[in-house]
Amino acid sequence: MNKLLNTILRKEKNSVPPVWIMRQAGRYLPEYREVRSGVSNFLEMCYTPKLASEVTLQPIRRFGFDAAIIFSDILVIPDALGVKVEFVKNEGPKLGDYDLKSLKTSNIKSHLNPVFEALELTKSKLGNETALIGFSGAPWTLACYMIEKGGSKNFEKTRQAAIKDPESFAQLIEILTQSIVEYLSLQIQAGADVVKLFDSWAGVLPPFELQKWVINPTKKIVSEIKKLHPNIPVICFPRAIGVNYLEFVKQVGCDVVALDQTVERSWARKNLQQDCSGIVQGNLDNLLLAFGSKKEIEKEVLDVLEKFGDRPFIFNLGHGIIPQTPIENVQLVLDLVRKK
Ligand code: CP3
Repeated sequence: MNKLLNTILRKEKNSVPPVWIMRQAGRYLPEYREVRSGVSNFLEMCYTPKLASEVTLQPIRRFGFDAAIIFSDILVIPDALGVKVEFVKNEGPKLGDYDLKSLKTSNIKSHLNPVFEALELTKSKLGNETALIGFSGAPWTLACYMIEKGGSKNFEKTRQAAIKDPESFAQLIEILTQSIVEYLSLQIQAGADVVKLFDSWAGVLPPFELQKWVINPTKKIVSEIKKLHPNIPVICFPRAIGVNYLEFVKQVGCDVVALDQTVERSWARKNLQQDCSGIVQGNLDNLLLAFGSKKEIEKEVLDVLEKFGDRPFIFNLGHGIIPQTPIENVQLVLDLVRKK
């Protein structure tokens, strides 16, 4: 069994914790840019199993991370439901209109088959020491992209929709919840050892709505996955929810909670690691990794290790690595974590 799974399933504490980084396959790697330059659009890359598998393996070959995360995107679910999804260069994702009644909920398995094939192919090429992570967007964050038809600063349209017409909004969240359970379950059948739910925009909600649109549906997804696949760990990333991480961990029943970089580490150590016996993942600042001096990066890496290292935890960033990140900074972090 590999280190990441040992840490989660046996709650083992390691003097060298397992480490991987969010968005580890991406534009900061020249070998990724090379593959990317050969395809005209991003979704095509996600839906070509050979390419998706190849870029999933690139960071493993280069850095020997303890986990590989399948190369895909959270927006493949709206795409499978029949919403038009496009990635416009330098602008990010753009989504088309949808109508609740016409969402194609029976398409998950057939439309996303290339993702399952990519998982199978990747699994066959990974050694036992590397865990394979499958993932999905969480209902709230997917609803955000569907309602705004793309990214947004504060997701105000989505917040308005949830307040003005909570019944329709609840229907959308329910459709997404069911689709996500099916999607994650199929990823597990295709070889994912662990699954992760990305709720990147959970942090825009006040507590009352966080409960309704983030905690409740996530709890449902985790419990459905646990019923179907009792031994598969679930990592949740309700980004930027501050002290509400405590309530989230108490209620949701996930195996690991991923912390963004704004979470104060002594607080998380006391409240999440000690009082809730939670396994945390995180939380080096992704922008410090890109733009900080070697000295500042070292100081923060050591702080993460010192605060979280005497209980089981997984070293990671607080958010995805950005394209401007120097590769040598990633290597520096790995050497520090692995005490080389
Ligand atoms: O290596 C990995 O972590 C696996 C791949 C992965 C991607 N997206 C690839 C990607 C994962 C796990 C995601 C998740 C994702 N996608 C999230 C949740 C995590 C987070 O960062 O909060 C979100 C919100 C998205 C939506 C999304 N996809 C946006 C906003 C963008 C455009 C921004 C950008 O960086 O260009 C994407 C595109 C995307 N997804 C890229 C990659 C590598 C860049 C596209 C390219 O290479 O041309």
